[in-house]
Order: sequence, then C-alpha cells, then structure tokens
Amino acid sequence: MKVEYFTMQDFQDAAEVIRRHTNLEPEVGLILGSGLNALAEAVDDAASIPFEAIPNFPVSTVAGHVGRLVVGRLEGRAVVVMQGRGHFYEGNSIMRVGFPIRVMRVLGAKTLVVTNAAGGINMTYRPGEVMIIRDHINLLGMAGQNPLYGPNLDTFGPRFPSMNDAYTPALRQLADQVALEARIPHHLGVYICLAGPSFETPADVRFLRAIGVDAVGMSTVPEVTVARHSGMEVLGLSGITNSLMGEEGGPAPNHEEVLEAGRLLAPRLETIIRGVLGAPEFAVRSNNL
Ligand code: HPA
Repeated sequence: MKVEYFTMQDFQDAAEVIRRHTNLEPEVGLILGSGLNALAEAVDDAASIPFEAIPNFPVSTVAGHVGRLVVGRLEGRAVVVMQGRGHFYEGNSIMRVGFPIRVMRVLGAKTLVVTNAAGGINMTYRPGEVMIIRDHINLLGMAGQNPLYGPNLDTFGPRFPSMNDAYTPALRQLADQVALEARIPHHLGVYICLAGPSFETPADVRFLRAIGVDAVGMSTVPEVTVARHSGMEVLGLSGITNSLMGEEGGPAPNHEEVLEAGRLLAPRLETIIRGVLGAPEFAVRSNNL
C-alpha cells in the first residue's frame, strides 16, 4: 500500500476551510468518542462543519460517531470539537487519523481533551466508571503504525519527541479533583489502543493484563502522539463500557452492556470536562506554533 504523508500546506488548507465558518480562535481541542455527541450540542455560538467538507479529514463511519467539527464556546473557553473521529480500522491511514489534531493546532488549540469508550482489563474496573488516562502503551506504534512516520514537520515539533508525561500531570490532577467532588467513580490507569475492529480473545485479555494495561480501546493513542509532538497538553478520559475477564467460555463483550454503560458515562464525562475547562486552575501553557 502507498504510504500517505501530509504537508504543512495540507494542514493549512484544512484550517482555511474551517476559518471560513468562524472567526473564533480555539484554545482547546476536544474529541468526543462513542455516546458523547450530546456535549457538542451544548457548545455556544457554534459553527458546525461536516468532516467530508474539510480536505483530508478521516472517514468516520461508526454508529454513534456523527463526523462533524464544531467550533464555539464551552464553559467560556473557545473550543474546537470533533463529534466523532476516524479510526484506523475504518481504513484510514494512521497519519490520517492524526490529521485533525494538527489542524486544531494550526487553528490555535494548545490543549487536547480526548475521550473514548474502553473495555476494562483491570479486574477492579466496572462498567460506568471513568478512567483518567495516566499513560498509554503504543502497541500500534511498536508494530510500525505511528502517525509521525515519514518526513518530520519541524514546525510542529522534533523528529524524536518525548512521550514522558504524555498526559499532563496537572490536568490529570484537576480531572481527579473534579471527579472526586462530583462523586464520580473513577480510576487513574494505563490505556492501550489496538487496531480492532475485532474484539480481544480471552488470551489477548490475559496478555494485556500481564503487560500492565488497565483499559483497552481502538483510538486515542495516535491522536495523543500527534498532540504531544506539537507541544499540546493532553487530558485523556476513558469511559469503561464493559469488563473483560479473560476467561475462556466467559461472556463476550456485549453490546447491550456497552449501551447501558454509555448512558451512565455520558453525563459523568461531561461533568468532568466542564469542571476541568471551567476551573480557574485550567491554564493554557503551550507556546505559540
Ligand atoms: N475492546 C476494545 N475496544 C473497546 C471495548 C473492548 O472491550 N469496549 C469498548 N471499546
């Protein structure tokens, strides 16, 4: 397969299309995963642009992913919101999955708040609970699927970016504080992104548990890698939709269970995101591009 690279011009062209719809310069980028679309409806003074109208945006075909970019204000902060996202398993190259993050950066966003639905690998995690992502394992990257593959764009960041503290400690602490105050059951843990779309076998689940994974999903890591490369601060939130036991003959991930957990999770994640964005401690610290 031909490798797909994007140039600075590609990112600027996409940003230009978005700027035709709004004068707002967003300071925060938000990715809303499965079941969280409603939060974008709460954005004030919103301009809304379908992904198809923005050049090179990834395809978002999954049910529950609207596939729209919304620019407006949330808790008084200028935000650019992805209502849905493109996944690798939909046939998007890993570079294309990361494409919107650099467009957000070109538009001015200096912080990324990213959400996802995830399966609980940690035996103590229950559906409906939130995991604030402490760190991730970039298994796709280890297997050669890193969104920074190809010529480095120095304007965004260095050839070999550090991934220490990929999830900004101050934002993790702030989210923890907000969740505690709102009595939202939550954990701090390690996320892993697998390519999907097939779910894990019981042996996969035991492997993931053995290497220190707390929750598994099919997104987020590529976007966070791109965000960190360009110096953005990151907050990652997983909504635990199902428990994975790793027992042969045990229950398979069950769609009903996932939907039920989603109903609990949407308001919980919304409370945390609003609490973090609205907090006086929330500060934008990154440099200008
Ligand atoms: N596995 C992978 N991704 C997921 C799961 C799961 O069990 N649940 C929600 N996203």
